[in-house]
Amino acid sequence: MKLIYANLLLSTTTTLRIVLQHPCGVNSFSPSLSSLTHPNNNIAYQRQHFSTSIPSSKSNNNNNSNEQDFTDHAPCFDSICDSDPPTNPSPINTSPGTATLRLGLDSNPTVWSEFGRIASTQPNLANLGQGFPDWLPPKFAVDALVEGVTDVSRNSPHQYTRTAGHGSLVRELAERYGRHLGRELDCMAEVAVTVGASQALFVSLQTLIQPGDEVILFEPFFDLYVNQIKLAGGIPVYVPLTFQPYSPDNDTNGFLSGGEWILESHELEQKITSNTRAIILNSPHNPTGKIFSMEEMECIAHAVRTVAEPRCVVLSDEVYKYIVHSTPDQPAEEFQTTLSNSDTTQHPIPCRGHIHFASLPSMYDRTITISSAGKTFSATGWQVGWAVGPSHLLQPMHQLLPYVQFCASTVLQEALARALPRADEPYEGHASYYAYLKHMYTRKRDTLGAALTEAGFAIPDWDRTAGGGFFIFCRITPQIRALVPAERIDAPNAAAPGGVARLDWALCQWLAEEKGVLCIPATPFFFGGAGEEWGCGGICAGGVL
Ligand SMILES: Cc1ncc(COP(=O)(O)O)c(C=O)c1O
Repeated sequence: MKLIYANLLLSTTTTLRIVLQHPCGVNSFSPSLSSLTHPNNNIAYQRQHFSTSIPSSKSNNNNNSNEQDFTDHAPCFDSICDSDPPTNPSPINTSPGTATLRLGLDSNPTVWSEFGRIASTQPNLANLGQGFPDWLPPKFAVDALVEGVTDVSRNSPHQYTRTAGHGSLVRELAERYGRHLGRELDCMAEVAVTVGASQALFVSLQTLIQPGDEVILFEPFFDLYVNQIKLAGGIPVYVPLTFQPYSPDNDTNGFLSGGEWILESHELEQKITSNTRAIILNSPHNPTGKIFSMEEMECIAHAVRTVAEPRCVVLSDEVYKYIVHSTPDQPAEEFQTTLSNSDTTQHPIPCRGHIHFASLPSMYDRTITISSAGKTFSATGWQVGWAVGPSHLLQPMHQLLPYVQFCASTVLQEALARALPRADEPYEGHASYYAYLKHMYTRKRDTLGAALTEAGFAIPDWDRTAGGGFFIFCRITPQIRALVPAERIDAPNAAAPGGVARLDWALCQWLAEEKGVLCIPATPFFFGGAGEEWGCGGICAGGVL
């Protein structure tokens, strides 16, 4: 079997999220999970398929024998930390600045540093907690990069470029988004290239928020948002998505059903106040894999139009837009065609199953659309991201960007500009690279889904629920709970929310320490104990594989 993706993220509560990527052998959790890897599914194997010379990985390349002594003080995302955060506070009074105070950072480890630490101590661990592919980008993308690097013409992309984005890339993005959104875009005024989608989010929030402004998040949420909102002086406001099981849970025999997460309009509308400055929408959604339906998008648009103040905007984080593996009932491109509000005669570029929120009626002027190359091109290290939107929202970003970063890497921007048109061409027997990507992820999802079901987790049924992204969010059933040593559940743990390792945390830690499979607990993706309630109530709320 060929599983490539495997990112297992377990919530402290009742659901389990599984992401689809996996570098090393799963050794002992269950026969089905053990069979998820294949020795050929690794970068070494793929490397030989590239004619270009690909540098070796860090571990092969690094001659520094002191590597293990290196202390990395940065917060660790994606479980690839080199070390723990510092434990001995400096004796010097550092008088922290406003941004540091806004984060309210303490010296406790985070979920990322804690599970990163576990990963670093277990070399043969199947790390399903990392949020990036363990294979190389498509060859056409690597070729595009090599062409950029070796370009010694007058236009060689080795120096600074325009802060708001390299010419070739902003032109390409404006043309593509013009077709996605059915309107003509000014590449100089309505696009900003950033260092990853993370910086696009950061700069958007910094340009929008005044202290005390509120920003709505759908819960569970990608945890980066919370601290970015706080850094800008804003207040995160959580709108819970509702978990709807396919069939009722049965307390008698311990049956827990899979199900889907839905947005209920009243939940959103009751949280909107005169202070609501932004709503962060993420579809496909991290961590649940949810695709927001047309009706849900319309409900958000309706709330923006009729309930929120005119200054309220939507930040639409669409980094997984090409990873929609089971499509909603109505193909998104049909919808977008009907919405076309300009006289453009070009067809939309297929982005099957994905709805660009900015394409909804009157939403373009209220939306900053954010994305990046990382997930689509299996190149998370490229860190080329962007924001697209009306000039009244993009110009403040252009103004701020040079004080954050003079520009995103010119070479990588040039590489992406060259790669984008090639992705539309037939690829590996599919109509385009994007069609291939969807097919590949669907296959991995099904492999992993089958293994999870066999292991006893409750997962979504993708014949009835649209799904996307890197993760499978599944419920921790009583059957799975029974496997976790009782002394681990509710044990004190400084990194766990509330200082206690609840079920999802205990399960993940047990899987990592005893069974060689690393998952990430999902509690950090919920606000203050909501997941715990669901766990107690027997409703799934948190695990990702
Ligand atoms: C929902 C979501 N948004 C944004 C990002 C960050 O993307 P980038 O690596 O381009 O900064 C991630 C990364 O995992 C993500 O999951």
